[in-house]
Amino acid sequence: MAAGLSVEQVQPARTFRAALRVPGDKSIAHRALLLGSIAGGRSRIEGVPQGEDVAATIACLRRLGATIEADGGGLLVGGRPIAEWDSGPASLDCRNSGTTMRLLAGLLAGSPVRATLSGDGSLSSRPMDRIASPLRLMGAAIETTEGHPPLRVEGRRLEGIRHRVSPPSAQVKSALLLAGLQAEGRTCVLEGVPTRDHGERLLTAMGATVRRAPGEVCIEGQQAPLRPLEIAIPGDLSSAAFLLAAASLRGGWTALIEGVGLNPTRTAFLDLLEEMGVSLSRQPEAFEIEPRGVIRVAGGALRAVRVEPERVARAIDEIPIITVLATQASGRTVISGVSELRVKESDRVRAMARGLSAMGATLEEQEDRIVIEGPAPLRGAAVDAAQDHRVAMALAVAGLVASSPTTIHGADRVDVSYPGFFDVLRRATGG
Ligand code: S3P
Repeated sequence: MAAGLSVEQVQPARTFRAALRVPGDKSIAHRALLLGSIAGGRSRIEGVPQGEDVAATIACLRRLGATIEADGGGLLVGGRPIAEWDSGPASLDCRNSGTTMRLLAGLLAGSPVRATLSGDGSLSSRPMDRIASPLRLMGAAIETTEGHPPLRVEGRRLEGIRHRVSPPSAQVKSALLLAGLQAEGRTCVLEGVPTRDHGERLLTAMGATVRRAPGEVCIEGQQAPLRPLEIAIPGDLSSAAFLLAAASLRGGWTALIEGVGLNPTRTAFLDLLEEMGVSLSRQPEAFEIEPRGVIRVAGGALRAVRVEPERVARAIDEIPIITVLATQASGRTVISGVSELRVKESDRVRAMARGLSAMGATLEEQEDRIVIEGPAPLRGAAVDAAQDHRVAMALAVAGLVASSPTTIHGADRVDVSYPGFFDVLRRATGG
């Protein structure tokens, strides 16, 4: 096992009861910070999560000259129109964060800046042609390293394009919208599956001309700076998913998550939980930019589910935890169209198949499909987080229903999105 340095042990749980808020939404935070940095004035962003991914975005933006300062519970971002940014050259370390790298590449493509964007070992193996190719069609000067990071971007005058994003990717869509904001004319992004629309919502709130139709979003290039942003970021549903899933595993187990994002482009996971038989309620609250509310879950018997490619795309970050639930559901769960999961922070199909198989799950890994027979009794094992925050959290949740302790190697990866996750798990299980 390619063991990480940090190890956590998860004990079998007799009970699970969580009532809490989770860290702010990572996807919204990256976008709010990037857009705040180019606005014509000072933005105030509350609820920015503490994790390493968002810290990477903040560090890159500071390196590019943005002022981002703590102010009470929030961050003040001093915006400066991008045409006024220093030309560099800048060396930007995006660490583990694909969103940081892809969105920054889009933002810088039409700026005066010259920059090299690099990342850690995991990010360095992730595909970048999916942004480099359409950005080049807009006129960008962007070089990859054989399709991977490091990326070299030299800002150029851009022209709007019409581009279909395939496979579906909110990161690619947002990168093109950020470039489109600075391009001549109109940029339209087409998508077969509606991916998260945080970029569109923030851009609209800040005064950009964004037009949305089913399967398509267009943005007009504009000279005028964006209006500063005021936002309280809701909790990250993709982080809450691990606690909601934990509570779903056994009768009598519960979770209540307050102030969590309920953006409909992110809630496919909740629909899947309901389809698996979980008793779940959503209580929406008033909001201005991003929907939010309270989610309650009570565990019980789970049934298998079929997850087809469209729903995989809409619950892309929740598929690892769905595989855990499937091991405890009666029947055969088939999840198809999973190849995108192989190019996330790790090969998540392989990492989950290895971990859950070591724990006794009946699981078949195919190139583009995962088949799981349940319910299967799980046993504790030594498992590897594969340097991936979501794999670490998913395998930890599996450990709650194992018959003996589970050891997670590389457990500190949870710091990427949910620092303190293991403490939350211990408290919820009375540990
Ligand atoms: C993200 C989009 C998703 C997701 C990632 C965050 C975003 O990636 O997996 O964790 O903030 O846009 P893709 O859009 O590339 O699938």
